[in-house]
Amino acid sequence: MTSAQAIKEIQKNFDINSIFAQHILRYTKGKVVPTQIQNIIDEKPKPFVKWVGGKRQLLKQFRLMELYPPEKFNTKTNIYFEPFVGGGAVFFDLLPEKAVLSDLNSELVTTFNVIKNDVEALIHLLRKYKYEKEYFLKIRAQNPEKLSDVNIASRFLYLNRTCFNGMYRVNSKGGFNVPFGKYSNPLICDENNLKKVSKSLKNVEIKRQDYKEVLKKAKKSDFIYFDPPYFPVSKTASFTNYTKEAFLEKEQIELRDTFLELHKRGCFVMLSNSDTPFINEIYSGIKGVKVTQVQAGRMINSDSSKRGKITEVLVTNY
Ligand SMILES: C[S@@+](CC[C@H](N)C(=O)[O-])C[C@H]1O[C@@H](n2cnc3c(N)ncnc32)[C@H](O)[C@@H]1O
Repeated sequence: MTSAQAIKEIQKNFDINSIFAQHILRYTKGKVVPTQIQNIIDEKPKPFVKWVGGKRQLLKQFRLMELYPPEKFNTKTNIYFEPFVGGGAVFFDLLPEKAVLSDLNSELVTTFNVIKNDVEALIHLLRKYKYEKEYFLKIRAQNPEKLSDVNIASRFLYLNRTCFNGMYRVNSKGGFNVPFGKYSNPLICDENNLKKVSKSLKNVEIKRQDYKEVLKKAKKSDFIYFDPPYFPVSKTASFTNYTKEAFLEKEQIELRDTFLELHKRGCFVMLSNSDTPFINEIYSGIKGVKVTQVQAGRMINSDSSKRGKITEVLVTNY
């Protein structure tokens, strides 16, 4: 069996994407042994933070629509870029051989790097955190700028596991302001997963930077996935601020221009956004660029009675 045939077989039998199937084949040294493969799938690392806008539920849909991952992307010779990485659901789904992850949220990026480089110290610290309201408020009040990297990471993970809905929201001064959440027994230190994540990041570059920096590095045939803060569906629907900076019309148009520059360069580009007239308009009528509607069951309204299925768009140039 050729390796292309083996990848197809693994993909079909285990219902996974082709890039992860290649990852498996590297581990099994080209052999298709079902029990070993199932083991690798069961041991796959998962995103370590809950992040509003996480893409996990949508990935299978993208795959069934043959929009993801781009068939011709070669993980051996080319790089995967995720410039709005957030919780990294797409990175953890693909586990590509070469990747560059980035985001503007500095606490998130520090956390990624601490997990990558210092996971044991992080686990040691995290074990000491308590799930209590007073304690939560004390931790929340700390100024991350005055903490060491490993303390920034443990505080970040703790708040993410114990705050309301696992949201990340900051005020105009950049201070985290999500209230204490009610859980029966939140898992503050998911030691097993943190160790797996750490391993998966070993050859990955993780940087705090603006998404436009991707233009300096991406080359022909690299794959870039953009998952920006979505354009609001209505004036009142703007639900969260991941960073102090806003991301509205002007920023969405600049992002479209970045998309087009990468398209001209011959990269594979995929972008998610809300299904609004504005977003449809700015990506319409461009040769080689396709806008596809997908159903999303996203929880973006704090009033649960108003949470429903909404559509989003996936923009691709392949
Ligand atoms: C929709 S979220 C990404 C969700 C992610 N795909 C996931 O699965 O969890 C958008 C991310 O963009 C980041 N961000 C906002 N403005 C940015 C910018 N100008 N450059 C890079 N990242 C930015 C935010 O910090 C946030 O993490």
